Amino acid sequence: MKAVILNENGGTDKLIYTTDHPEPEIKPNEVLVNVKATSINRADLVIRNGYPGLSLKFPHILGGDITGIIAKTGSDVKNFKKGERILSWSIVSESDNDWTRRGKAGQSPDWQYFGMHRPGSYAEYSAVPESSLIKLPDNVSFEDAACLPVAGLTAYHAVKTVGDVQKGDKFFLWGGTSGLGTIAIQLAKSLGAVVFATAGYDHKTEHLKRMGVDYIFNHRDGLAIDDEVLKITHGSGIDVILDYVGPEAFPKNFKMVKKGGKILFCGILTGMEAMVSLHQTYLRHISLLGLYLGEKRELEDLVKMVSDGIIKPHIGATLELKDAAKAHEMMAKGEVIGKIVLKV
Ligand SMILES: NC(=O)c1ccc[n+]([C@@H]2O[C@H](COP(=O)([O-])OP(=O)(O)OC[C@H]3O[C@@H](n4cnc5c(N)ncnc54)[C@H](OP(=O)(O)O)[C@@H]3O)[C@@H](O)[C@H]2O)c1
Repeated sequence: MKAVILNENGGTDKLIYTTDHPEPEIKPNEVLVNVKATSINRADLVIRNGYPGLSLKFPHILGGDITGIIAKTGSDVKNFKKGERILSWSIVSESDNDWTRRGKAGQSPDWQYFGMHRPGSYAEYSAVPESSLIKLPDNVSFEDAACLPVAGLTAYHAVKTVGDVQKGDKFFLWGGTSGLGTIAIQLAKSLGAVVFATAGYDHKTEHLKRMGVDYIFNHRDGLAIDDEVLKITHGSGIDVILDYVGPEAFPKNFKMVKKGGKILFCGILTGMEAMVSLHQTYLRHISLLGLYLGEKRELEDLVKMVSDGIIKPHIGATLELKDAAKAHEMMAKGEVIGKIVLKV
Protein backbone atom coordinates (compact mmCIF):
# COMPACT_ATOMS: atom_id res chain seq x y z
CA MET A 1 0.00 0.00 0.00
CA LYS A 2 0.96 3.67 -0.24
CA ALA A 3 2.41 5.01 3.00
CA VAL A 4 4.79 7.58 4.43
CA ILE A 5 7.05 5.77 6.87
CA LEU A 6 9.71 6.71 9.37
CA ASN A 7 12.63 4.31 9.79
CA GLU A 8 14.25 6.58 12.37
CA ASN A 9 13.60 9.89 14.12
CA GLY A 10 14.87 13.11 12.58
CA GLY A 11 14.09 15.88 10.09
CA THR A 12 11.62 15.92 7.21
CA ASP A 13 14.08 13.87 5.10
CA LYS A 14 13.17 10.90 7.33
CA LEU A 15 9.59 10.88 5.99
CA ILE A 16 9.84 8.21 3.29
CA TYR A 17 7.06 7.78 0.73
CA THR A 18 6.62 4.21 -0.48
CA THR A 19 4.04 2.32 -2.55
CA ASP A 20 4.81 -1.15 -1.25
CA HIS A 21 4.39 -1.01 2.52
CA PRO A 22 2.50 -4.10 3.80
CA GLU A 23 -1.21 -3.59 4.51
CA PRO A 24 -2.06 -3.89 8.22
CA GLU A 25 -3.54 -7.20 9.43
CA ILE A 26 -6.83 -6.65 11.27
CA LYS A 27 -7.87 -8.33 14.53
CA PRO A 28 -11.45 -9.70 14.94
CA ASN A 29 -12.57 -6.44 16.67
CA GLU A 30 -11.05 -4.16 14.01
CA VAL A 31 -11.88 -2.83 10.58
CA LEU A 32 -9.50 -2.02 7.74
CA VAL A 33 -10.04 1.61 6.75
CA ASN A 34 -9.18 2.77 3.25
CA VAL A 35 -7.93 6.18 4.36
CA LYS A 36 -9.15 9.04 2.14
CA ALA A 37 -7.67 12.03 3.97
CA THR A 38 -5.61 12.93 6.98
CA SER A 39 -4.15 16.14 8.38
CA ILE A 40 -0.91 17.39 9.88
CA ASN A 41 -0.70 18.16 13.58
CA ARG A 42 2.13 19.73 15.58
CA ALA A 43 2.45 16.45 17.45
CA ASP A 44 3.47 14.74 14.17
CA LEU A 45 6.50 17.06 13.92
CA VAL A 46 7.42 16.41 17.54
CA ILE A 47 7.06 12.61 17.19
CA ARG A 48 9.06 12.69 13.93
CA ASN A 49 11.89 14.55 15.66
CA GLY A 50 11.79 12.28 18.72
CA TYR A 51 9.33 12.78 21.58
CA PRO A 52 11.13 12.65 24.96
CA GLY A 53 10.53 9.23 26.54
CA LEU A 54 8.69 7.77 23.54
CA SER A 55 10.31 4.92 21.64
CA LEU A 56 8.68 4.14 18.31
CA LYS A 57 8.46 0.72 16.69
CA PHE A 58 10.05 1.30 13.25
CA PRO A 59 8.97 1.47 10.53
CA HIS A 60 6.49 3.90 12.07
CA ILE A 61 3.48 5.59 10.42
CA LEU A 62 2.48 9.02 11.75
CA GLY A 63 -1.02 10.53 11.75
CA GLY A 64 -3.83 10.83 14.30
CA ASP A 65 -6.64 11.79 11.90
CA ILE A 66 -8.18 8.76 10.21
CA THR A 67 -11.16 9.09 7.88
CA GLY A 68 -12.19 6.98 4.91
CA ILE A 69 -14.19 3.96 3.82
CA ILE A 70 -14.31 0.56 5.50
CA ALA A 71 -12.58 -1.95 3.20
CA LYS A 72 -12.86 -5.03 5.42
CA THR A 73 -14.38 -5.92 8.80
CA GLY A 74 -13.11 -8.34 11.47
CA SER A 75 -15.32 -11.27 12.48
CA ASP A 76 -16.43 -9.64 15.80
CA VAL A 77 -17.38 -6.26 14.33
CA LYS A 78 -21.13 -5.73 14.80
CA ASN A 79 -22.21 -2.19 13.99
CA PHE A 80 -20.12 -1.24 10.95
CA LYS A 81 -19.95 -2.76 7.49
CA LYS A 82 -17.79 -2.70 4.37
CA GLY A 83 -18.32 0.42 2.25
CA GLU A 84 -19.37 2.72 5.13
CA ARG A 85 -17.84 6.20 5.48
CA ILE A 86 -16.18 6.58 8.88
CA LEU A 87 -14.10 8.85 11.06
CA SER A 88 -11.98 7.47 13.87
CA TRP A 89 -11.46 8.85 17.37
CA SER A 90 -7.72 9.58 17.60
CA ILE A 91 -7.51 7.30 20.63
CA VAL A 92 -7.90 3.57 21.29
CA SER A 93 -8.97 2.86 24.88
CA GLU A 94 -10.71 -0.43 25.59
CA SER A 95 -9.74 -1.51 29.13
CA ASP A 96 -12.23 -1.82 31.95
CA ASN A 97 -10.81 0.52 34.63
CA ASP A 98 -11.62 3.55 36.82
CA TRP A 99 -11.29 5.97 33.89
CA THR A 100 -13.34 4.06 31.32
CA ARG A 101 -16.06 3.34 33.92
CA ARG A 102 -16.32 7.10 34.63
CA GLY A 103 -16.66 8.07 30.97
CA LYS A 104 -13.05 9.24 30.71
CA ALA A 105 -11.63 6.55 28.44
CA GLY A 106 -9.44 9.18 26.77
CA GLN A 107 -7.53 9.55 30.05
CA SER A 108 -7.02 5.82 30.64
CA PRO A 109 -3.36 5.07 31.52
CA ASP A 110 -3.14 2.43 28.78
CA TRP A 111 -4.64 4.65 26.07
CA GLN A 112 -3.12 4.57 22.61
CA TYR A 113 -2.88 7.47 20.18
CA PHE A 114 -2.84 6.75 16.43
CA GLY A 115 0.47 7.78 14.94
CA MET A 116 2.18 7.66 18.31
CA HIS A 117 1.54 4.36 20.10
CA ARG A 118 0.17 2.54 17.05
CA PRO A 119 0.40 3.03 13.27
CA GLY A 120 -1.42 6.13 12.08
CA SER A 121 -3.03 7.61 9.00
CA TYR A 122 -0.19 8.62 6.63
CA ALA A 123 -1.11 5.46 4.72
CA GLU A 124 -3.62 3.99 2.30
CA TYR A 125 -4.96 1.60 4.94
CA SER A 126 -5.24 1.70 8.70
CA ALA A 127 -6.50 -0.88 11.24
CA VAL A 128 -9.04 0.65 13.64
CA PRO A 129 -10.95 -1.08 16.48
CA GLU A 130 -14.73 -0.81 16.18
CA SER A 131 -14.81 0.95 19.58
CA SER A 132 -13.05 4.00 18.08
CA LEU A 133 -15.25 4.32 14.96
CA ILE A 134 -17.80 7.05 14.24
CA LYS A 135 -20.12 7.02 11.24
CA LEU A 136 -19.41 10.00 8.98
CA PRO A 137 -22.50 11.84 7.67
CA ASP A 138 -22.66 12.08 3.85
CA ASN A 139 -22.55 15.89 3.94
CA VAL A 140 -19.18 15.99 5.75
CA SER A 141 -16.27 15.70 3.30
CA PHE A 142 -13.28 13.50 4.09
CA GLU A 143 -11.08 16.63 3.97
CA ASP A 144 -13.19 18.40 6.61
CA ALA A 145 -13.42 15.21 8.69
CA ALA A 146 -9.62 14.89 8.66
CA CYS A 147 -9.41 18.17 10.62
CA LEU A 148 -11.46 16.90 13.53
CA PRO A 149 -10.00 13.97 15.55
CA VAL A 150 -6.92 15.84 16.88
CA ALA A 151 -7.17 19.63 16.42
CA GLY A 152 -10.97 19.75 16.39
CA LEU A 153 -11.46 17.42 19.34
CA THR A 154 -8.88 19.26 21.45
CA ALA A 155 -10.55 22.59 20.64
CA TYR A 156 -13.95 21.14 21.62
CA HIS A 157 -12.63 19.59 24.84
CA ALA A 158 -10.94 22.90 25.76
CA VAL A 159 -13.75 25.32 24.92
CA LYS A 160 -16.89 23.33 25.70
CA THR A 161 -15.87 20.79 28.34
CA VAL A 162 -12.89 21.99 30.38
CA GLY A 163 -13.31 25.72 29.73
CA ASP A 164 -17.12 25.45 29.94
CA VAL A 165 -17.29 28.77 28.07
CA GLN A 166 -20.63 30.53 28.59
CA LYS A 167 -22.51 33.24 26.70
CA GLY A 168 -20.87 36.61 27.42
CA ASP A 169 -17.63 35.07 28.76
CA LYS A 170 -14.40 36.62 27.60
CA PHE A 171 -12.32 33.94 25.86
CA PHE A 172 -8.66 34.55 24.93
CA LEU A 173 -6.54 32.46 22.58
CA TRP A 174 -2.89 32.80 21.57
CA GLY A 175 -2.23 31.87 17.92
CA GLY A 176 -5.84 31.99 16.77
CA THR A 177 -5.15 30.99 13.14
CA SER A 178 -3.69 27.57 14.01
CA GLY A 179 -5.54 24.39 13.06
CA LEU A 180 -6.75 24.12 16.64
CA GLY A 181 -7.33 27.86 17.02
CA THR A 182 -9.58 28.29 13.98
CA ILE A 183 -11.95 25.65 15.37
CA ALA A 184 -11.71 26.92 18.98
CA ILE A 185 -12.71 30.42 17.84
CA GLN A 186 -15.76 29.12 15.97
CA LEU A 187 -16.80 27.08 19.01
CA ALA A 188 -16.39 30.03 21.39
CA LYS A 189 -18.35 32.32 19.03
CA SER A 190 -21.10 29.70 18.69
CA LEU A 191 -21.44 29.75 22.50
CA GLY A 192 -21.77 33.55 22.52
CA ALA A 193 -18.34 34.37 23.98
CA VAL A 194 -16.47 37.61 23.38
CA VAL A 195 -13.32 36.38 21.63
CA PHE A 196 -9.83 37.84 21.99
CA ALA A 197 -7.15 36.26 19.75
CA THR A 198 -3.60 36.83 18.55
CA ALA A 199 -1.70 36.07 15.37
CA GLY A 200 1.87 36.79 14.34
CA TYR A 201 1.47 38.17 10.80
CA ASP A 202 -0.76 40.75 9.09
CA HIS A 203 -2.43 38.26 6.73
CA LYS A 204 -3.29 36.15 9.78
CA THR A 205 -4.72 39.05 11.81
CA GLU A 206 -6.80 39.89 8.69
CA HIS A 207 -8.11 36.32 8.76
CA LEU A 208 -9.09 36.70 12.42
CA LYS A 209 -11.10 39.80 11.40
CA ARG A 210 -12.95 37.75 8.77
CA MET A 211 -13.69 35.14 11.44
CA GLY A 212 -15.43 37.79 13.55
CA VAL A 213 -12.91 37.83 16.40
CA ASP A 214 -13.83 40.74 18.65
CA TYR A 215 -10.35 41.88 19.77
CA ILE A 216 -7.25 41.08 17.70
CA PHE A 217 -3.57 41.48 18.59
CA ASN A 218 -0.28 40.75 16.84
CA HIS A 219 1.90 38.71 19.21
CA ARG A 220 5.05 39.59 17.22
CA ASP A 221 4.82 43.40 17.26
CA GLY A 222 6.07 43.93 20.84
CA LEU A 223 2.72 45.15 22.19
CA ALA A 224 2.01 44.45 25.89
CA ILE A 225 -1.06 42.38 25.07
CA ASP A 226 -1.81 41.65 28.72
CA ASP A 227 -1.98 45.39 29.53
CA GLU A 228 -4.15 46.05 26.46
CA VAL A 229 -6.58 43.29 27.49
CA LEU A 230 -6.83 44.69 31.00
CA LYS A 231 -7.56 48.14 29.53
CA ILE A 232 -10.28 46.74 27.25
CA THR A 233 -11.88 44.77 30.08
CA HIS A 234 -11.64 47.73 32.51
CA GLY A 235 -9.29 45.75 34.72
CA SER A 236 -11.46 42.66 35.19
CA GLY A 237 -9.65 40.37 32.71
CA ILE A 238 -10.44 37.17 30.86
CA ASP A 239 -12.72 34.32 31.98
CA VAL A 240 -11.05 31.52 29.98
CA ILE A 241 -7.59 31.57 28.38
CA LEU A 242 -6.48 28.79 26.03
CA ASP A 243 -2.69 28.52 25.85
CA TYR A 244 -0.41 26.23 23.90
CA VAL A 245 2.48 28.69 23.78
CA GLY A 246 3.77 27.86 27.27
CA PRO A 247 6.40 29.72 29.34
CA GLU A 248 6.54 32.77 27.05
CA ALA A 249 2.81 33.39 27.49
CA PHE A 250 2.39 32.20 31.06
CA PRO A 251 3.14 35.44 32.98
CA LYS A 252 0.79 37.32 30.61
CA ASN A 253 -1.94 34.72 31.07
CA PHE A 254 -1.57 35.02 34.80
CA LYS A 255 -1.82 38.81 34.67
CA MET A 256 -4.87 38.99 32.42
CA VAL A 257 -6.95 36.09 33.79
CA LYS A 258 -10.01 37.24 35.71
CA LYS A 259 -10.38 36.50 39.42
CA GLY A 260 -11.98 33.03 39.48
CA GLY A 261 -10.99 32.44 35.83
CA LYS A 262 -9.36 29.53 34.07
CA ILE A 263 -6.09 29.07 32.20
CA LEU A 264 -6.14 25.99 29.99
CA PHE A 265 -2.89 24.40 28.80
CA CYS A 266 -2.52 22.10 25.82
CA GLY A 267 0.89 22.76 24.29
CA ILE A 268 4.53 23.61 24.86
CA LEU A 269 5.58 25.70 21.85
CA THR A 270 8.08 27.78 23.89
CA GLY A 271 9.09 25.23 26.55
CA MET A 272 7.83 22.76 29.11
CA GLU A 273 8.04 24.59 32.44
CA ALA A 274 6.95 27.91 33.96
CA MET A 275 7.06 29.47 37.45
CA VAL A 276 3.72 29.79 39.18
CA SER A 277 2.77 31.80 42.26
CA LEU A 278 0.81 29.40 44.47
CA HIS A 279 -0.12 32.40 46.61
CA GLN A 280 -1.71 34.36 43.76
CA THR A 281 -3.33 31.21 42.34
CA TYR A 282 -5.35 30.59 45.50
CA LEU A 283 -5.86 34.23 46.46
CA ARG A 284 -7.34 34.90 43.03
CA HIS A 285 -9.23 31.56 42.77
CA ILE A 286 -7.46 30.76 39.49
CA SER A 287 -7.88 27.31 37.91
CA LEU A 288 -4.85 25.98 36.01
CA LEU A 289 -6.10 23.12 33.84
CA GLY A 290 -4.20 20.77 31.53
CA LEU A 291 -5.90 18.96 28.68
CA TYR A 292 -5.01 16.45 26.02
CA LEU A 293 -7.35 15.50 23.12
CA GLY A 294 -10.80 14.50 24.44
CA GLU A 295 -13.51 11.84 24.59
CA LYS A 296 -15.16 10.02 21.70
CA ARG A 297 -18.62 11.42 22.56
CA GLU A 298 -17.19 14.94 22.21
CA LEU A 299 -15.87 14.10 18.74
CA GLU A 300 -19.32 12.72 17.83
CA ASP A 301 -20.89 16.00 18.90
CA LEU A 302 -18.32 17.98 16.93
CA VAL A 303 -19.03 15.91 13.79
CA LYS A 304 -22.72 16.75 14.24
CA MET A 305 -21.87 20.46 14.55
CA VAL A 306 -19.95 20.24 11.27
CA SER A 307 -22.80 18.33 9.62
CA ASP A 308 -25.27 20.96 10.91
CA GLY A 309 -23.14 23.80 9.48
CA ILE A 310 -22.25 25.33 12.87
CA ILE A 311 -18.51 24.63 12.48
CA LYS A 312 -16.56 24.68 9.21
CA PRO A 313 -12.92 23.55 9.45
CA HIS A 314 -10.61 26.02 7.74
CA ILE A 315 -8.28 24.16 5.37
CA GLY A 316 -5.35 26.37 4.37
CA ALA A 317 -3.58 23.81 2.15
CA THR A 318 -4.34 20.42 0.62
CA LEU A 319 -1.47 18.21 -0.55
CA GLU A 320 -1.01 14.62 -1.71
CA LEU A 321 0.20 11.96 0.75
CA LYS A 322 3.55 11.76 -1.03
CA ASP A 323 4.12 15.44 -0.14
CA ALA A 324 4.00 14.82 3.63
CA ALA A 325 7.56 16.15 4.08
CA LYS A 326 6.63 19.41 2.33
CA ALA A 327 3.52 19.65 4.53
CA HIS A 328 5.67 19.28 7.67
CA GLU A 329 7.95 22.06 6.42
CA MET A 330 4.96 24.32 5.76
CA MET A 331 3.71 23.77 9.30
CA ALA A 332 7.15 24.34 10.83
CA LYS A 333 7.45 27.67 8.97
CA GLY A 334 3.96 28.73 10.07
CA GLU A 335 2.99 29.41 6.45
CA VAL A 336 -0.57 28.12 6.56
CA ILE A 337 -3.76 29.42 8.16
CA GLY A 338 -5.87 26.60 9.62
CA LYS A 339 -5.29 22.96 8.75
CA ILE A 340 -2.96 21.26 6.27
CA VAL A 341 -4.75 18.25 4.79
CA LEU A 342 -3.17 15.30 2.97
CA LYS A 343 -5.33 13.50 0.41
CA VAL A 344 -4.53 9.80 0.41
N1 LIG B 1 -2.92 18.84 24.05
C1 LIG B 1 -3.51 18.41 22.94
O1 LIG B 1 -4.31 17.47 22.96
C2 LIG B 1 -3.21 19.08 21.65
C3 LIG B 1 -3.87 18.67 20.47
C4 LIG B 1 -3.65 19.38 19.30
C5 LIG B 1 -2.75 20.44 19.29
N2 LIG B 1 -2.10 20.77 20.44
C6 LIG B 1 -1.13 21.87 20.47
O2 LIG B 1 -1.77 23.04 20.01
C7 LIG B 1 -0.84 23.85 19.29
C8 LIG B 1 -1.41 24.17 17.94
O3 LIG B 1 -1.42 23.00 17.18
P1 LIG B 1 -1.74 23.03 15.63
O4 LIG B 1 -1.54 21.67 15.11
O5 LIG B 1 -3.05 23.69 15.45
O6 LIG B 1 -0.50 23.96 15.16
P2 LIG B 1 -0.28 25.07 14.04
O7 LIG B 1 -1.46 25.07 13.10
O8 LIG B 1 1.07 24.87 13.48
O9 LIG B 1 -0.29 26.43 14.85
C9 LIG B 1 0.74 26.92 15.64
C10 LIG B 1 0.28 28.29 16.15
O10 LIG B 1 1.13 28.72 17.18
C11 LIG B 1 1.24 30.13 17.08
N3 LIG B 1 2.45 30.56 17.79
C12 LIG B 1 3.70 30.11 17.59
N4 LIG B 1 4.56 30.74 18.44
C13 LIG B 1 3.80 31.61 19.15
C14 LIG B 1 4.10 32.55 20.19
N5 LIG B 1 5.34 32.72 20.64
N6 LIG B 1 3.08 33.28 20.70
C15 LIG B 1 1.82 33.12 20.25
N7 LIG B 1 1.48 32.23 19.29
C16 LIG B 1 2.46 31.49 18.75
C17 LIG B 1 1.29 30.40 15.60
O11 LIG B 1 0.87 31.71 15.35
P3 LIG B 1 1.53 32.66 14.20
O12 LIG B 1 1.95 31.80 13.05
O13 LIG B 1 0.41 33.58 13.88
O14 LIG B 1 2.67 33.34 14.85
C18 LIG B 1 0.27 29.37 15.09
O15 LIG B 1 -1.02 29.95 15.06
C19 LIG B 1 0.48 23.05 19.25
O16 LIG B 1 1.28 23.50 20.31
C20 LIG B 1 0.04 21.65 19.51
O17 LIG B 1 1.04 20.86 20.08
C21 LIG B 1 -2.33 20.12 21.60
